[in-house]
Amino acid sequence: MKKIKNICCIGAGYVGGPTMAIIAQKCPHINVTVVDINEKRIAAWNDENVENIPIYEPGLPAVVKEARGRNLFFSTDVDAAIDQAEMIFISVNTPTKTYGMGKGMAADLKFIELCARQIARVATTDKIVVEKSTLPVRTAEALRSILENTGNGVKFQILSNPEFLAEGTAVEDLFAPDRVLIGGDVETEEGRAAMEALVEVYANWVNRENILTTNVWSSELSKLTANAFLAQRVSSINAMSELCEKTGADVNEVAKAIGMDSRIGSKFLKSSVGFGGSCFQKDILNLVYIAKSYGLDAVADYWEQVIIMNDHQKSRFAATIVKTLFNTVSGKKIALLGWAFKKDTNDTRESAAIYVADYLLNEQAEVVVYDPKVTAAQIFADLDYLGSRSPEENRRLLKVVAKPYEACADAHAIALLTEWDEFATYDWEKIHTNMMKPAFLFDGRGILEELQLEEIGFKKYRIGR
Ligand code: UDX
Ligand code: ADP
Repeated sequence: MKKIKNICCIGAGYVGGPTMAIIAQKCPHINVTVVDINEKRIAAWNDENVENIPIYEPGLPAVVKEARGRNLFFSTDVDAAIDQAEMIFISVNTPTKTYGMGKGMAADLKFIELCARQIARVATTDKIVVEKSTLPVRTAEALRSILENTGNGVKFQILSNPEFLAEGTAVEDLFAPDRVLIGGDVETEEGRAAMEALVEVYANWVNRENILTTNVWSSELSKLTANAFLAQRVSSINAMSELCEKTGADVNEVAKAIGMDSRIGSKFLKSSVGFGGSCFQKDILNLVYIAKSYGLDAVADYWEQVIIMNDHQKSRFAATIVKTLFNTVSGKKIALLGWAFKKDTNDTRESAAIYVADYLLNEQAEVVVYDPKVTAAQIFADLDYLGSRSPEENRRLLKVVAKPYEACADAHAIALLTEWDEFATYDWEKIHTNMMKPAFLFDGRGILEELQLEEIGFKKYRIGR
């Protein structure tokens, strides 16, 4: 079997960037080149100051610092990197389609297809192509069909190697993955050799027992299934949170009680304002679309309910704010603490904060946002993308500030939407003093429990109690 000496990764985003940085750190004998068409992003990855890399992920700057320039490179020269590599990872984005057939459900594979065509055009030597992005089942087939019809004699092996890292803990997850999954053509010798080549890469730091090999379709479907199950747990506990509010039960107590059942387990049972992130919703929509396309309506409806529940949780939270503030927030300042979809990331894709803000803006509130890591430009881009009002109006109605105390001063209410650790360290007495009274606090993440803020005078709402 040929040893891998050069890896190329197309796409320098939340998946490609951290994954390749760790492969490079753990495999000093392999040259890893991450390429992207976005020049600004590549320039940021190459910034002299590693703290300025384009994604915020704890522990990542140190890894980049160690490997960059040694065997980790970031470049916009996609063709050169493809040409040199024996193994090419595709880590480009696969958003939900916003047009045409499968609109709002199917994954848009145009970026993947462009990559495949580029690889087909450039390659002069045999390549192993690895799908890293989350893709609908049977994408490998489409890739194969594009790559194998180039007619230039180059041989391609296609592997599926889904990413299970979670943002905010990407470095830990990559250092010690629960499992690495590699799908390939198990029927042929070339297929098995390609899989073994990728196993060899991971075996530099992952125990072989934790590296699973399967056929391509199982690997592709496992990724969607894992995300669907995780999202389903959050929607399940969120469904219970509403029932708890009506019955006098406390969702945290319920979660603890059921989580101690080893068959259920305690993780992913934190009731919240709703899940976000680039994967959960997209993957479930994808699953729903695939099921429907096979005529499996009961299967599709079952999984769609996870999304319906999540949308309900987001709007229910926003509606609670309006109802509690005497049925109107018009002209009232509401401070939103947190915009990222979870703590320790600057990623905002599908963040609940976007929908809560939009709801409150529709109710004519004056919304002021503070997030420790998300830029104002990103916040406005997220709102503009929804298309509820003009960009000018979004900028007139919503303000982004750099200090939490400024966000909360004179506010009628605070809504806490991301579980950033720093929120629990604030001087909440000072914040209370400077707010309008009654001072309402809506904790969408349940992280302020221990602070007994009711004793300071806050009127507090927590999900699920
Ligand atoms: C997820 C999967 O966990 C990961 O394996 C996959 O590779 C990509 O998708 P990620 O989206 O980065 O990772 O974050 P995750 O930690 O799964 O959280 C997703 C959302 O669910 C966040 O908005 C989070 O706040 C929310 N969540 C999670 C809850 O509301 N309650 C929980 O108990 C857990
Ligand atoms: P993910 O969370 O899946 O990593 P991101 O959007 O963060 O998604 O990153 C995907 C990256 O892929 C983007 O930086 C985008 O510019 C890049 N990309 C998309 N298509 C191509 C392509 N054909 N060639 C190179 N890079 C691409």
